[in-house]
Amino acid sequence: MKLSLRDLDVNDRAVLVRVDFNVPLEAKDGIQAITDDTRIRETLPTIKNLRDRGARVILCAHLGRPKGKPTPEYSLEPVAQHLSKLIGAPVAFAKDCVGPQTEALANTLKAGDVLLLENLRFHAEEEKNDPAFAQQLAKLAELYVNDAFGAAHRAHASTAGVAGYVKQAAMGLLMEKELQYLQGELANPNRPFVVILGGAKVSDKIGVIKALMQKADVFLIGGAMAYTFDAARGIPVGNSRVEKDKLELAHEILALAKEKGVKFLLPTDSIETQEIKPGAVIRATKEQVGVSEGWMGVDIGPATVAAYRAEILKAQTVLWNGPMGIFEISEFSNGTFAIARALAENEGISIIGGGDSVTAVQQSGLAERMTFLSTGGGASLELLEGQELPGVAALNEK
Ligand code: 3PG
Repeated sequence: MKLSLRDLDVNDRAVLVRVDFNVPLEAKDGIQAITDDTRIRETLPTIKNLRDRGARVILCAHLGRPKGKPTPEYSLEPVAQHLSKLIGAPVAFAKDCVGPQTEALANTLKAGDVLLLENLRFHAEEEKNDPAFAQQLAKLAELYVNDAFGAAHRAHASTAGVAGYVKQAAMGLLMEKELQYLQGELANPNRPFVVILGGAKVSDKIGVIKALMQKADVFLIGGAMAYTFDAARGIPVGNSRVEKDKLELAHEILALAKEKGVKFLLPTDSIETQEIKPGAVIRATKEQVGVSEGWMGVDIGPATVAAYRAEILKAQTVLWNGPMGIFEISEFSNGTFAIARALAENEGISIIGGGDSVTAVQQSGLAERMTFLSTGGGASLELLEGQELPGVAALNEK
């Protein structure tokens, strides 16, 4: 068991907190505006806990992929202003994440004060997990807390290296919660345990399928990855997106499910179209006949929605990762939102494993009805695959 922020004596001590403030920004009238602040809001319990207990809070984060150079559009300054509004207190901003000026600024902090450092990735050393850079970060504080679950699959200086140069390195409250749901709850899930997987590629989800095949009772497959399974089974797919080099793999997965006695459901009908654009003409395919020639499948059809809904309503635990169709276009979004509604109705545990499915649930307006929505994309996938996350491994044991 890893050390938790709750185990640390933080009173009047400087605590370096790695957070995942990698939020979407959009330039509006020359100002960078945050279009979704979920990741920032999810770290508020950690920030509040530390401030209430008299810590001097130094937050560090990355934003985008600026490739090791200062890049104005990836500055975290707008995030500092936004955070200040959320916590109702000033948030100081350091124009560089390391160096004498930043150290001096950190030294001016008093108990309960908050400082946000400029984007870590303005230094190439961050992503290289450079030891000297990690030491520079560690110079800013005695204690380190990693609350950046979304970046915990990266072995970078601020997520891994730095932990070796501080007195104590612990997980933050968000990190703890993510591990509790994506690891703890799923280690021994209440049954039936239903796993819903979607998205474009089988290759992205193969690790998760294999890991969860040991535990799940039912898989519900959607998204373009379903057409790779159909192509492997000889069902017509029209012009649907198919990973032609993964047909053998699709066969293997189907055989594995059979061997384990796992119910592995694929869509029996689809919504098909001839063009991927808003306003496109759509129609439902007949059940079990596949996608028409010259058309492509872009969502699960009504019969599939009904079958999947029935499985979801019987489940005690549901994990969902990946949309059922191209839900960004409203004509192709019904399947994904119908799954969100079924999950909202289900009374068991519903865990939304990050990325696009979280966006879809938020757009459906049903986020409050889910047990847990992950803030991680790649990190949640790696965790579900059973991999150890470097950002967690680096922390001290209790
Ligand atoms: C994410 O958005 O998934 C994390 O913040 C990690 O970002 P990265 O993929 O650029 O490392």
